[in-house]
Amino acid sequence: MEQLNTEVVLSGVRFRNPVIPASGTFGFGQEFTRYYDLNLLGGISFKGTTIEPRFGNPTPRIAECQAGMLNSVGLQNPGAEHVRDVELPALRKIFNGPLIANISGFSEEDYVRAVEILTGAEQVALLEINISCPNVRHGGMAFGTSPEAAAAITRAVKKVATKPVYMKLSPNVTDITAIAKACEDAGADGLSLINTLLGMRIDVRRRRPVLANKMGGYSGPGIFPVALRMVYQVTGAVRIPVIGMGGVSTARDVIEMMMAGARAVQVGAANLVDPLACRSIVEALPEEMASLGIHALSEIERVS
Ligand code: FUM
Repeated sequence: MEQLNTEVVLSGVRFRNPVIPASGTFGFGQEFTRYYDLNLLGGISFKGTTIEPRFGNPTPRIAECQAGMLNSVGLQNPGAEHVRDVELPALRKIFNGPLIANISGFSEEDYVRAVEILTGAEQVALLEINISCPNVRHGGMAFGTSPEAAAAITRAVKKVATKPVYMKLSPNVTDITAIAKACEDAGADGLSLINTLLGMRIDVRRRRPVLANKMGGYSGPGIFPVALRMVYQVTGAVRIPVIGMGGVSTARDVIEMMMAGARAVQVGAANLVDPLACRSIVEALPEEMASLGIHALSEIERVS
């Protein structure tokens, strides 16, 4: 087969392919090493990290749905210093590609402090500032549903970041392009979208919500058309690069997301259904490219 080029570049950072496990679906990579060599991945976005360790929400915090799942994990993570001092050195032993540090917070100061701790880590290539978690009462999505708040977090983080800053956007808004433009105007280097859609299930026998937190974020193949539409709208409205995600589960989905304007793609819920999902997607990419007459992924143009 002809040599096909899967490399993509985001803010000057080279990724060997555009396939990146999404934050919250891949931990810090360790559990997946028993299934495959992580070095075939384009990059890894690690579990959303906050300044303090968090145990997360009460259980049950997962609910299955027909075309995906709900989660209300609540940002369980070991805290920024532990991630820098323990998780990242361990991850370096199993993965030599670029890392995306996904950072969450409950106040502007939280984000700034976590960025200060993680921005200097050598493997961290990009910072993904999560202003879209639907599973916490304060902060999280509250920052990603107002253009002013999204801009304020972007500006604060940019002051201390030494790596490119990508703001991770929520789909739970009327006009995602308004939030995207506010982040771009405030200095964001790129955007990641979409996070999960706020949803709910009810256990009809017990007559109560399935999730202890009542509501959670819906992800999986069911949200792919919504994510694609938002990526298309945002890439039509801003000039900064966009990482597209939401229900991606095949190599064809990756290419479709790139035709909507995404420069790279994250794979989330699919990792929880099949731990080999990202490997299968990476391996299927060349054949998919060949069948569509695509020689280099970086040459894919956004459809008009
Ligand atoms: O609840 C969670 O940990 C999910 C985070 C997110 O969707 O950003």
